[in-house]
Amino acid sequence: MTPEPGRGGVENGAAVLSAAFEAHSERFARITARARRHFERQDWSAAQRDSVRRLDLYGECVADALGRLEARLGALARDRDTWHAIRGAYARSVAARGDAELAETFFNSCARRMFQIVGVDSELEFVAIDSSEPHGLATDAVARVFSRDGRLEDLLERVLEACGFAAPWDDSSGDAQRIAAAIGAEADARSIRALEVARPLFFRGKAAYVVGRLLTDGAPIPLLLALRNPRGRVIVDAALLSEDEVSIVFSFARAYFSVSWAQPRSLVHYLRGIMPRKPLSELYTAIGLHRHGKSELYRSLLRHLATSDDRFEIAPGQRGMVMCVFTLPGFDVVFKVIRDRFDPPKTVTHEEVRAKYRLVFRHDRAGRLVDAQAFEDLEFERARFTPELLDQLLLLAGDSVQVRGDRVVFRHLYTERRLRPLDLYLREADPAAAREAVQDYGQVLRDLAATNIFPGDMLLKNFGVSRHGRLIFYDYDELAPLTECRFRELPHSSDHGDEIAGEPWYYVGERDIFPEEFRTFLGLKGELLETFLAHHEELLGVAFWHRMQDVHARGELLDIFPYRASRRLRRGAADPDAQSPTLTAGSE
Ligand SMILES: Nc1ncnc2c1ncn2[C@@H]1O[C@H](COP(=O)(O)OP(=O)(O)OP(=O)(O)O)[C@@H](O)[C@H]1O
Ligand SMILES: [Mg+2]
Repeated sequence: MTPEPGRGGVENGAAVLSAAFEAHSERFARITARARRHFERQDWSAAQRDSVRRLDLYGECVADALGRLEARLGALARDRDTWHAIRGAYARSVAARGDAELAETFFNSCARRMFQIVGVDSELEFVAIDSSEPHGLATDAVARVFSRDGRLEDLLERVLEACGFAAPWDDSSGDAQRIAAAIGAEADARSIRALEVARPLFFRGKAAYVVGRLLTDGAPIPLLLALRNPRGRVIVDAALLSEDEVSIVFSFARAYFSVSWAQPRSLVHYLRGIMPRKPLSELYTAIGLHRHGKSELYRSLLRHLATSDDRFEIAPGQRGMVMCVFTLPGFDVVFKVIRDRFDPPKTVTHEEVRAKYRLVFRHDRAGRLVDAQAFEDLEFERARFTPELLDQLLLLAGDSVQVRGDRVVFRHLYTERRLRPLDLYLREADPAAAREAVQDYGQVLRDLAATNIFPGDMLLKNFGVSRHGRLIFYDYDELAPLTECRFRELPHSSDHGDEIAGEPWYYVGERDIFPEEFRTFLGLKGELLETFLAHHEELLGVAFWHRMQDVHARGELLDIFPYRASRRLRRGAADPDAQSPTLTAGSE
């Protein structure tokens, strides 16, 4: 028999969980805060280690919280009434926090784990579907306004100096002039009255970003300054002035930023003002709060289901051999369920597939690998599925999908932003857009190579096109670190019979890759093939791949710029950051 939920048990339980959440926040904040120092000291490998460390933190803290709770409450920790009462006490204890919405998500993670909740349990979890909407959030807390009282350059220089780096600026007044010139080329610089910038800086990889807006007599203009520290002296590498360009820096295909700010909701809403088309979930995720990003995604999904008649349906494109993929027409997300069995030639196991998705989660996604969020034990109304989809799911993925009465339950699935599969896109696009896509396709291979990733299955159907026209890869079951692949020349036999035989007559190891074969894999013809060859022919030889492997073997971290090369402010001989073009991977 479970003991009665006494007040002491409830208060103790709430205290354990809120202390666990507090401990998580502190550890998260401490790791995040180190990003500034890593940037100042050019300690890129420490920055990389910390970003992975931070991703692991959440699961560890939840497990720790549950262990402590059981130690403190014994069997009561698994008692529903007690837990329900703990939720009330916990809500009161975190209500005044600036990150109360994260505290609720943390509580839910604990509850779901403890009770193995399927679907949603409104007695045990926080379920408010709009709890993260802003209420009277003041911009001035999160952003600082620098008023103009003279030249734009002087205003910009004040903004740069306010970053307060321990490393010196290389040439802040020259940078301020270059930014002013970039602004002048796009906007009426005279109409700028002030500059408003988010108080925290955004650190990621080898860069730091100032994010804000130019306040003009008319509509504000987005502003993002990309700062780098190539030689122990900080420079402004680029100034971006449009919603689209800023949005690409905040892409769902990149690693998360380190941003020290205790009121995430106000920051996310500030960012939303600059990038109104980005969902809240992606903005939370972009600043490293991916667990809460998942809560927001789930809530927006429930809102969408509640306010539309949309049904889940099979996603457009070719059916996967590893994944069943479905979507909702009016909701920009795909859902991927791992199939029960994979037909030949697939040799991967379920565990390996999941391990690949984990690898991508922890890796620098370089703007080219879609971020996938894993969900467990989701439940939807059966009537919201088209019959074809439900048949397909039950037939191919019955281990993960079950029908229980009028509900459909998913044991495990991934969500990703929905992209237009490249095979479909090339059929629809006008010739110029198709050529651009093919050129960018090659660039994806280069960008991934620069971060030590080989995508494996490089067929067109495994790449998607974003709303910005950017190519992004999403099929991870054959992806591998570049340094683990063996790039080989195709052996050429003197025996004609060998060469026309269906099976290769030479030994092919599991990790052997023959770049010459890419030409056939791609299935590009005519003008599109020519476009690819004009920009990327070297990808069909082994030399490029070996060179990239050497770079990674030396432990070099290459630069991937989340903006076009033409946006870089210091070009030409005077550029202290000039690199050999073969090693500069990004050309977005
Ligand atoms: N993020 C996405 N946006 C839009 N469509 C997608 C997305 N991810 C997958 N798809 C669609 O679902 C199909 C299967 O997905 P995916 O390639 O991830 O699965 P797979 O089973 O690993 O494929 P393969 O058989 O090529 O190994 C894709 O070909 C594409 O049509
Ligand atoms: Mg695929």
